Amino acid sequence: MKTCKYTNARRQFLKSTVAATLAYSLLSQITAGSESRVIKKTIPSSAERLSVIGLGTSRTFNVSDSADSISPLVEVIQTFFDRGGQLIDSSPMYGNAESVTGALLDQVKNKQGLFTATKVWTNGKDEGTRQMQRSMQRMGVDHIDLMQIHNLRDWQTHIETLVDWKARGKIRYIGITTSHGRYHKDLEAIMRQQPLDFVQFSYNILDRAAEQRLLPIAQEKGIATLINRPYQRGSLFRLVKGKPLPEWAAEIDCVSWGQFFLKFIASHPGVTCIIPATSKLKHMADNMAAGYGRLPDENTRERMIEYLAWL
Ligand SMILES: NC(=O)c1ccc[n+]([C@@H]2O[C@H](COP(=O)([O-])OP(=O)(O)OC[C@H]3O[C@@H](n4cnc5c(N)ncnc54)[C@H](OP(=O)(O)O)[C@@H]3O)[C@@H](O)[C@H]2O)c1
Repeated sequence: MKTCKYTNARRQFLKSTVAATLAYSLLSQITAGSESRVIKKTIPSSAERLSVIGLGTSRTFNVSDSADSISPLVEVIQTFFDRGGQLIDSSPMYGNAESVTGALLDQVKNKQGLFTATKVWTNGKDEGTRQMQRSMQRMGVDHIDLMQIHNLRDWQTHIETLVDWKARGKIRYIGITTSHGRYHKDLEAIMRQQPLDFVQFSYNILDRAAEQRLLPIAQEKGIATLINRPYQRGSLFRLVKGKPLPEWAAEIDCVSWGQFFLKFIASHPGVTCIIPATSKLKHMADNMAAGYGRLPDENTRERMIEYLAWL
């Protein structure tokens, strides 16, 4: 019994040492200037290429816009750009997040690839127009790359405005979002009928409902996908707390659970860009590392699901 305990403890120690060494070597490889190796996906409606790891802002960027609150986030967002990140997703629904994003964008260097995404979340044409103009001011930009209708709210009204804004060059892409399974049927119908460039919904290794219809429809109709809640708002980490990664995770260049979860999503052929949210530098470096190296093939994806179920 004693020997067994010792062996297990030793094995655990060796595993964590190997994981820490791998993490250090992978993260230290991914430094400024390594953008050329970042995994990019194609936006079907334009053939433009976009880095697969983007950034969400819900809750994490909803802080006061005082210098004290913002300064810890400058390094976080700088790391995003230094490691090849492009798309930042916000919304007027996220409190101060649009203004904080604007203040941060003002301070970062080398943001050439920046791809702004926000949302309209109100009723009525005039209020929608006012809200979108306010979002541009808050984010400190004169155009938004992707404007999305948040949670399908008054979508029949806003879609007309978005088509008009796209024609006039005020936005480059039109999208619509949800994070609730109960809206999937409505979303499917909209995807089939409306001139969408992007659709945003939840998809992760535990919540795979989108594989049934939304991802295949997006592929069929040539609609790019933004994936929200990739960590189920962080609850996936609680599930695997204290559990080891499988040794074969190294074959897909994963040295953390975060990378394991993100690479699972990124490897789906219907996925364009994933938008994990973080306020921590360490987590940002971890998330951005998932945008490099090998992705799992179909067999490995099955293995990842089975491993998680077995834990
Ligand atoms: N209907 C919609 O349009 C809709 C709905 C939901 C979400 N969204 C968008 O999708 C984005 C992402 O979804 P989400 O923010 O709900 O949830 P999420 O990205 O699944 O999870 C965020 C949580 O994970 C933690 N985290 C991030 N990276 C980590 C890492 N490497 N290791 C450990 N913990 C990590 C963060 O905490 P730390 O700060 O401690 O890192 C945060 O608490 C949102 O921010 C928003 O932009 C849109």
